[in-house]
Amino acid sequence: MGLNACGIKSKYERQAFHASYVSLARRKMGLNACGIKSKHDSDAFEGVLVHMSKMLEKIRARARSLQKTIVFPEGEEPRTVQAAAVLRKEELAQPLLLGSPGKIREVAFETGTDLVGIQMVDPRESPKAGEYAAALCEIRKAKGMTEAEAAKLVSDPMYYGIMMVKMDEADGLVSGAVHTTGDMLRPALQIIKTRPGIKVVSSSFLMDCPNRDLGENGLLVYADCVVIPCPTAEELANIAVSAADTARTLCGIEEPRVAFLSFSTKGSAKHELVSKVQQAVAMAHELAPELLLDGEMQFDAALVPEVAAAKAPGSPVAGRANVLIFPDLQTGNIGYKITQRIGGAECFAVLQGLAKPCNDLSRGCSVEDIVNTAVFTAVQAQA
Ligand SMILES: CC(C)(COP(=O)(O)OP(=O)(O)OC[C@H]1O[C@@H](n2cnc3c(N)ncnc32)[C@H](O)[C@@H]1OP(=O)(O)O)[C@@H](O)C(=O)NCCC(=O)NCCS
Repeated sequence: MGLNACGIKSKYERQAFHASYVSLARRKMGLNACGIKSKHDSDAFEGVLVHMSKMLEKIRARARSLQKTIVFPEGEEPRTVQAAAVLRKEELAQPLLLGSPGKIREVAFETGTDLVGIQMVDPRESPKAGEYAAALCEIRKAKGMTEAEAAKLVSDPMYYGIMMVKMDEADGLVSGAVHTTGDMLRPALQIIKTRPGIKVVSSSFLMDCPNRDLGENGLLVYADCVVIPCPTAEELANIAVSAADTARTLCGIEEPRVAFLSFSTKGSAKHELVSKVQQAVAMAHELAPELLLDGEMQFDAALVPEVAAAKAPGSPVAGRANVLIFPDLQTGNIGYKITQRIGGAECFAVLQGLAKPCNDLSRGCSVEDIVNTAVFTAVQAQA
C-alpha cells in the first residue's frame, strides 16, 4: 500500500495513516495490539509492510501508465464511491460508476467524496441498453434467452457492467462489496467467457509471507482458492498455466516455478487422488512446454530445499517453487487461510482465465481493498 494512494500528504496525516495501516495489517495477520512482542518480531513485521508496499507500488505505477477504464456495478455503494475518488485522484484508472447519478451524488455528499472526473451511467436510462440487450440475446440464444429476458437483465447493473466489458466500453470490472462471488462470476462466465487457450476461470491468491526465503522473496502464488470446487486433471493443468501467467504479468515474477501439490511426493503414495495430480502435471507440460513445473509433491517438498533434496532430487521446481497448485478448492481455500492467519502473510485475490478481467471483492472489503483490486484489474487488462 503506497501512502500516496490515499492522497495523504502531510506528515501528521502520513503518521496517522501508517498507524491505522499497521493496525489493519496486524488485524489481517491475526495479531492484536500486543501480538508483536520482541524487537525482532516488530522488525520482521515492518519488513512485511515495506516489501508489500514495494510490490503494490510497482503494480500501481503500471496501472497509472495504462489509464484503463474500470466499471463498478455497485456504483451507489459508499466504499465503492470513495474508492473511485482515490483512483481518480491518484490517476490509477478511469473509474466508471453504475447507478442512479442522483443516488451516487447523495452518497458522495454523505461521505465527503469528490466526484470530479468520475463517469456515472444509469443502466435503466442508458441509450446503449438496447444495443447491449441485442448483443446479450445473441450471445445466450443457444441457451434459450429471449429478447425480453435480455432487456430485463441489462437493466441490472451487474449484467450491464459485464456487457460494457464485453463490448469493449470498459477494460475491466470490479464488484463484490455487496454481491456474492457467484452473483458476479456467473454472468462473467456466461458472457465474457475464457481467454483463448484456457478452458476454465479460476483464481490466484498472491501471498506475501514474512519469511523472505520462501518462493519469490516471500511472495507465493496460490491457486485455485475460490472458483472450482473439484477440478479434473485437465482443469488443474489449466489452473496452473493461468497461475503462472498471473505470477508473470501481475507480480512481475520472471520465472514462475509451478509445483502441483499432493500428500505424495513423486510417487511416494499410491491413490487415485495422487494419479489425478500426476495426470495434471503431464497435461500442463503439453499445454505449456516452456513452463518450469513439476509434481506431484508435498507442500514442504515444494518450498524447503533440504526436503526437496531428499524427496525430489533433480526436480527443477522442488524446494524453490513460487506458484503452488492445490489439488482442489477445499485444500486451496484452507491453505491460503492457514498461510494468512498462522503464517502472518498478507494476501490479495484475483480471478484469472477470463477473456477480460473481472474481479471479486469480499463483502467486508475496505476502500483500500477496492482500490487495490481495481489496480490489479487494470494491469490484467493489459496482459
Ligand atoms: C463458479 C460458480 C459460481 C459457477 O456457478 P454455477 O451456478 O455452478 O454455474 P453453472 O455450472 O450453471 O455454469 C454457468 C456457466 O458458467 C460456465 N462455468 C462454470 N464454471 C466455470 C469455470 N470455472 N470456468 C469457465 N466456465 C465456467 C458453465 O460452463 C456455464 O456456461 P454456459 O451457461 O455458457 O453453459 C460455482 O462453481 C461456484 O459456486 N464455485 C465456488 C465459489 C465459492 O463458493 N467459492 C467460495 C470461496 S470465496
